[in-house]
Amino acid sequence: MIKPKHIGIIMDGNGRWAKLRGRPRTFGHIKGARIAKKIVTAAAELGIQTLTLYAFSTENWLRPEQEVAFLMNLLGRYLKKETTNLVKENIRFSVIGELDRLPNHLIRAVQSTITATQNCQGMHLVFALSYGSRREIVEAVKDVATRVKNGELDVSAIDENLFASHLSTYPAPDLDLMIRTSGEQRLSNFLLWQSAYSELHFTKTLWPDFDRKEFEQIISDFSFRERRFGRVTEQHEQLTN
Ligand code: FPP
Repeated sequence: MIKPKHIGIIMDGNGRWAKLRGRPRTFGHIKGARIAKKIVTAAAELGIQTLTLYAFSTENWLRPEQEVAFLMNLLGRYLKKETTNLVKENIRFSVIGELDRLPNHLIRAVQSTITATQNCQGMHLVFALSYGSRREIVEAVKDVATRVKNGELDVSAIDENLFASHLSTYPAPDLDLMIRTSGEQRLSNFLLWQSAYSELHFTKTLWPDFDRKEFEQIISDFSFRERRFGRVTEQHEQLTN
């Protein structure tokens, strides 16, 4: 079975899930964090190389202040509680996004989890925190331009690989599979460059109802999808045989 090396998940629908139960949105986020824990473990057990979770987008800062503070605390608590398990499960943790916009307590929690898991050799778990793909691309453009300006890099040496090496996901492989829950069919500024050839899977399931069974089914469906990367079937078969 061809397994996706890198999976990205847009965990959407916490608010709606809570509303359906007449509960505050925060109730949905708490359940959402529990599901995240289960899916992280499942992904590691299934041999996925990299799992990137969209935990907080740059646009999420526009939510009511109380909800933002709640999410920041929840993420901090999650990391503190989960670090030992991540080490046990041999999962290396890192983040992408504008770390400096996060509250200090969360920056500390992030750094401590990164340090504790730095020698883990199993799955790589990435949280996208205060992350926006367009901004990431603009930052990469600035880095490349600065190197050219300083005479370290010749314009003719700029190609897709060089550019990708300036993105925050480097050296993780491109995204093979992007999953979004809750029925929305958008990428919402998540890993736009990295998902150029990725398979997209949209499920109506709200994130708090997502489970290992559905995750495994999506991965199994992926292995039957034919990814030709712009080639015709026969060429693709020659490459993969
Ligand atoms: C979307 O639900 C979810 C988020 C804003 C961020 C994801 C956060 C979690 C799953 C909880 C914490 C995660 C971890 C990894 C500890 P929504 O509020 O947009 O739902 P709605 O679209 O129904 O309003």
